[in-house]
Order: sequence, then structure tokens, then C-alpha cells
Amino acid sequence: MPHDFMPGLAGIPAAKSAVSDVDGEHGVLEYRGIRVEELCQRSSYLETAYLLLFGHLPTRPALAQWEQDIAHHRRVKYSIVDLMKCLPEQGHPMDVLQAAVAALGMFYPGRNVKDMENNYWSDVRLIAKLPTIIAGWARLRRGDDAIAPRDDLAFSENFFYMLTETMPHPLWVEIFDDCLILHAEHTMNASTFTGLVTASTLADPYTVVASSLGALKGPLHGGANEEVVQMLKEIGTVDQAARYVEQRFHNKQKLMGFGHRVYKVKDPRATILQSLCEKLFSTCGTSQLYDIAVRVERRAVELLDGKKVYPNVDFYSGIIYDKMGIDSDLFTPIFAMARVSGWLAHWLEQLRENKLFRPDQIYAGEHNRPYVPLDQR
Ligand code: CMC
Repeated sequence: MPHDFMPGLAGIPAAKSAVSDVDGEHGVLEYRGIRVEELCQRSSYLETAYLLLFGHLPTRPALAQWEQDIAHHRRVKYSIVDLMKCLPEQGHPMDVLQAAVAALGMFYPGRNVKDMENNYWSDVRLIAKLPTIIAGWARLRRGDDAIAPRDDLAFSENFFYMLTETMPHPLWVEIFDDCLILHAEHTMNASTFTGLVTASTLADPYTVVASSLGALKGPLHGGANEEVVQMLKEIGTVDQAARYVEQRFHNKQKLMGFGHRVYKVKDPRATILQSLCEKLFSTCGTSQLYDIAVRVERRAVELLDGKKVYPNVDFYSGIIYDKMGIDSDLFTPIFAMARVSGWLAHWLEQLRENKLFRPDQIYAGEHNRPYVPLDQR
């Protein structure tokens, strides 16, 4: 039966899901019915990951067990470190992460995705090990040894420790953890959909996450956060900001970190991230990049008046990470280490009533063409 073709499947539901919901007209994002603003104020990344995966907030003992399980699975096998050492040091960390996650699956071969006990441990391993791989690569590519995770440190604190071998400022840990909450889940986005397509073949979760990582990398999706900071650095000064935006629009170029398929108002995550920027700068000194960003936003909103294009999650996040001294090519991997819990939540949900994704197409080619022999072409 012919259907209307919707480029990018815009507005076409690809799943029924109870994991999260976006109200794009009013700028509301909820995970399992709880608004992200409240989760940022009251929850931690790991508690939020539990909520996403299992559908409810954990009791105190359940949370303690979950945190312990994650802490005990942070190490990666030395073979994974050896594999990373063989990769070109200029390789993008998202490519390294994708390769390492795909390789992880070979070490944990429980391929029966109907085995819920095994699925639990796959969830634990993936959430626990992504930060270790990212921090490990950040050091290995400079010729330094990877730093082993510490079981006594909380999730975000441990990530900073593995990156720098020092203890971060407690405010940084708090803000970073909020950033992870904000990136943990976002309905049927490109990387989640990609993972679900792979999952629908009953592939193992390491392959599912490796597929999602590939989709997240692109500049129209998670890769935008890295490009935003590059853009702000290129602009250089607040005075140049308005002219830069005008020139970009004059040349019909998009502004990275702006626009969204669903939001028709400012992305609520961008609003929270902006307030996190201000919280960070009030104690750690301001950032020129932030001042430029605010000016870019003001001019862009004036020029895009009527198109309903506003800052998205990727606009302010990189400014926070940059202030914390994190390399800009690690921003998208950090997005991934948060989003993995959302990907896995959708994976578990879909497994309950799995159906192979096999969409249709509208054929736009020719029929009955003759085969022309090579010497007659
Ligand atoms: N800068 C300038 N104009 C824009 C932008 C932008 N960033 N985004 C959309 N528009 C305009 C676009 O030119 C078009 O105008 P017109 O109707 O005159 O041709 C209109 O708004 C609709 O844009 P679209 O590209 O057809 O909309 P979409 O829903 O397909 O695109 C998007 C959504 C996110 C791909 C797009 O807004 C974009 O390319 N943004 C820049 C990249 C970016 O920041 N990506 C991160 C997305 S959110 C977080 C994530 O997923 O990681």
C-alpha cells in the first residue's frame, strides 16, 4: 500500500515508548514522567540511569547495589587498552570508542538477549566502561598510561580522576553530573533509532551501542557540541559575534547548536546548561566563550525570528567542558557516556515486543532496462 514519503521520517512514530517524552511546543522534557529540571536538582546520573532502565526510582538499597555494581565493572581488559594503543593517535575519540565498544562484545559473549540476567550485566558493563575507555584514550594518545578507575569514587568524580589523576573541584563534579543527566535520554533521536534498528535483529547490546555511537558522531546530532566550541573560538571576541552570525546566514550556512526537529522553543536542556555555565563561572571565573555564545544566541534569535530555531542541548554544554579543561573532541564521547543509559533503556523496552525493522521505500528508478555488454557501453 503506498504511503506518503516523509523525509527523515519526520513525525512518523517508530516505537511506543514509556522511557521519555518531549513537549516540543512548551519545552518540556521528562524521563519516565519526571521533569529533567527536577532530576538535575535532586538526582544523580547513576540514579537517573536506573530510572531510565528500570522505569522507577531505586530504593536506597537498590541504588547502593546499582552504584556498587557499576563501580565494580569500570575496569576494561588490558586487551582493550592494547587495542586502543594500536589506533592512530590522531584518531577521533568517537571512532576509538565505537571500535572499543564493538570489541567489548567479544569478551562478553552471552548473545542470548532473552536472558534478562545477562542483559542486566551488559547494561552495567556498558555504563561502567564507557568513561574508562574515553579517559583512557585521552591519555594514551598523548603517550601517558591510562589511569585505573577507583571504586571509592562516584561516577563523575571517577571520570575526572581517570582523566587527570587529580581530584576535581566538588562543584565541577556536581555540574558535570547534571550535564550527564541532561544528555542521558531524548526519545526517538537518530542514535536511539539506529540502535533500535540494530537491536531489532536481536544483535547483542555491544553491537547495538556501537551502532548508536556511529549515529551520534555526526555533526547534525551529537557532533554539534564539538563544532559549537570551535565556532565560538573562531569568532574570537564578543564584538565579532553578531557579524559572524549575519555572514553565516547570508551564506545560507546553519549555526551549530541551533535548531531541533521537535523543539519549537528553546531546548529546556540549553536553558539548564546556560544556568550551569553561570553557576560554574560564578566560582571559577568567567569564560570569553560564554560571553560570545550569549551574543551569538541574541543575534541568531533575532535573525531566525519566525523559524522557531533556538539553541539546543549542544550549544552551551561544550563551554562548560572547555572551562573544565576537557579537550573538545571528547565532548561527543561524553554525550555518549551519558546517552548509553537511554539507548539501553529503549533496547530493553523493545526486546519485550521485538519486531524486525524493515521499512518500505518508494522506488524512484527504472524497470526492465537491458543489460548492455561491456564493449558496447
Ligand atoms: N541554523 C540556521 N537555520 C537553521 C538551523 C540552524 N542551526 N536549523 C534549522 N534551521 C532552519 C533551516 O535552514 C530551515 O529553514 P528553511 O525552512 O528556510 O529552509 C528550517 O530551519 C528547518 O530546518 P531543517 O534543517 O529542515 O530542520 P530539521 O528538523 O531537519 O533539522 C537539525 C534539525 C537539528 C538537523 C537542524 O536544526 C540542524 O542542522 N542544526 C544544526 C546542528 C545541530 O545543532 N545539531 C544538534 C541537534 S540537537 C542535539 C542532538 O541531537 O545531538
